[in-house]
Amino acid sequence: MSDETATTFTPRVFSGIQPSGGLTLGNYLGAMKRFVDMQDAGTHETVYCMVDLHAITAKFLDPDTLRKNTRELCAGFIAAGIDPETSILINQSQVPEHAQLAWIFNCVARMGWMQRMTQWKDKAGKNQQNASLGLFAYPALMAADILIYHATHVPVGEDQKQHLELTRDIAIKFNHDYGVDFFPVTEPVIEGAATRVMSLRDGSKKMSKSDPSDASRINLTDDADTIAKKIRKAKTDPDALPSEVDGLQDRAEARNLVNIYAALSEQSVAEVLAEVGGKQFGEFKPMLSDLAVAKMAPISSEMARLMDDQAEIDRILTRGAERARAITAPILRQTYDIIGMVPPVTL
Ligand code: TYM
Repeated sequence: MSDETATTFTPRVFSGIQPSGGLTLGNYLGAMKRFVDMQDAGTHETVYCMVDLHAITAKFLDPDTLRKNTRELCAGFIAAGIDPETSILINQSQVPEHAQLAWIFNCVARMGWMQRMTQWKDKAGKNQQNASLGLFAYPALMAADILIYHATHVPVGEDQKQHLELTRDIAIKFNHDYGVDFFPVTEPVIEGAATRVMSLRDGSKKMSKSDPSDASRINLTDDADTIAKKIRKAKTDPDALPSEVDGLQDRAEARNLVNIYAALSEQSVAEVLAEVGGKQFGEFKPMLSDLAVAKMAPISSEMARLMDDQAEIDRILTRGAERARAITAPILRQTYDIIGMVPPVTL
């Protein structure tokens, strides 16, 4: 495809988070906060999604828990600063075109591509025969989430990079197979100091809601005392903080805490080190916990307030789905037309 003939796509951001229960500082800094920044920049249309279809791929979730998690995540998005009037805020299963396009992409993606996905290998573990087919097909649904909006940019944390490369491969293969320039080759946006927030107990492991140790993560719902205690106990080394970025090499735990501080204070790592270089952790950790409490506590109290009015959350999601379908229904119809299928009947 030459540049002269390439289609120009509306600048549009799409990203999603699984309502699998609990949000961590990693989700907030690696995803939500950046979603808000992209919304507020006003340079792109922004679509943000609770991916409930993805949330059932790994383990069985009882229906009440899934419903609660989805509403809680919606409250989390809004509390973090997503404005449901400015952005389109949706729950994946309420916009059926995601799953419809995913089927098409199941037929575009190759088994070998999926087998290479590190998340599949990690999550399926040794017992792949017992993993769900949905877990294997997960990245094709993710590609459909993005491409059903013709999204051009996808802000995510580092752990999603391979899935976004696969999304590009699917778009390229579809366009090539059908001789069209229909799906954009999406750009991953993996930027800033906190694209990979690490465990507070082990600087080589990602901070994750599925880590058995609660001390390894800061939850969006942790109160001030809990946050301070977890940071006080965070693993570090005996040295003072360096004044230059190079000094963080081979100091995974120190680098992680400095990255978190930089992302929370909206500074670069170099700026933070210019301020705190030479300090011992005994002095730096209280600074970090004060900052984390100041930034996170208002989000968790706003989340709790929003959860008091679940009918309002449901209304927001219904409205979001209506707005989303004005984009996704025509794209699905065009996709079917390209493939030689009859467009879905509208009721
Ligand atoms: P999920 O729900 O695991 O995580 C949501 C977002 O949070 C980021 N994240 C982190 N960032 C930095 N440090 C961490 N420790 C950390 N932990 C999580 C993730 O990178 C992600 O951006 N497959 C996706 C959801 C998804 C999606 C999509 C994303 C479904 N469809 C389409 C983008 C576009 C996932 O499981 O994210």
